[in-house]
Amino acid sequence: MDSAPTNTPPAAALTAVVVVAAGSGERLGYGMPKAKVPLGGDSILTHALRGVAAAGVARQICVAIPPGDPELRNLCETFAQELAVEGPQAPAPGVAVQLPAVTVVDGGASRADSVRAALAALQPEIEAVLVHDAARALTPEAVFHRVSRALAAGAQAVIPVIPVVDTVKTVEAAAADAPAPELVTGTAAREALRAVQTPQGFQLATLRRAHAAAATFDAGQAAAVTDDAMLVELLGVPVHAVRGASQSLKITTPLDLIIAEGLLEGPLGARWVEG
Ligand code: C5P
Repeated sequence: MDSAPTNTPPAAALTAVVVVAAGSGERLGYGMPKAKVPLGGDSILTHALRGVAAAGVARQICVAIPPGDPELRNLCETFAQELAVEGPQAPAPGVAVQLPAVTVVDGGASRADSVRAALAALQPEIEAVLVHDAARALTPEAVFHRVSRALAAGAQAVIPVIPVVDTVKTVEAAAADAPAPELVTGTAAREALRAVQTPQGFQLATLRRAHAAAATFDAGQAAAVTDDAMLVELLGVPVHAVRGASQSLKITTPLDLIIAEGLLEGPLGARWVEG
């Protein structure tokens, strides 16, 4: 894993960042799409978009929202206006950069469908893409930079990962008369396990090929697709890993939202600067 400090964005002129924000957010229990849920006075999607812009790696930012959601479309337009006023992040002082275009598309029934919809809306000159979960709204800029640097260094696919702290076991359903509902079938070697985050970076042609192959999956196979890198793995293309960050947690449950609020506003906020 890459552990070199990276405080400046790599010069990745032809990169798009796809932000998938079309999930229902049922597990968060707010009764609204997760992207709209308030976090520290703004929405989860606003935090995610500001993080992408601050990283300064995108020529285009393409957001997949729940189909026909006018509020989230407006939110993206407001963000684009905010960006136009504040200006894009320059890779170095005095270096002129182009304002990223902000595109909004209707997402699909699955995360992979949302990614495919966004890939179809990328500008023709785009060569590389970072696919990012809006739910990972507090991802540090340095993680975007590590992923972009690995792409610039020649990787076809690169993912940010963190070590797994729990012991992880495989299980199967136990017999009806067993003393507990599940039976352990094995223990994974923890030192070889990594928890995978986003943004996941790809050469665009590679990711398009991977998603084209997945479009023919049956319902069972499609349901098993939880990230983009696994589709690229299925092509036999090497997927590289760089260091992720604890703050990149995917806000999924009410507890995650409390942790995210704490990171933004709590006593840890000012002290916790993990990159
Ligand atoms: O539900 P899951 O944890 O896989 O969601 C991860 C990310 O994918 C979230 O940011 C969510 O908004 C997005 N997503 C999407 N379209 C879907 C399902 C999830 O854009 N149909």
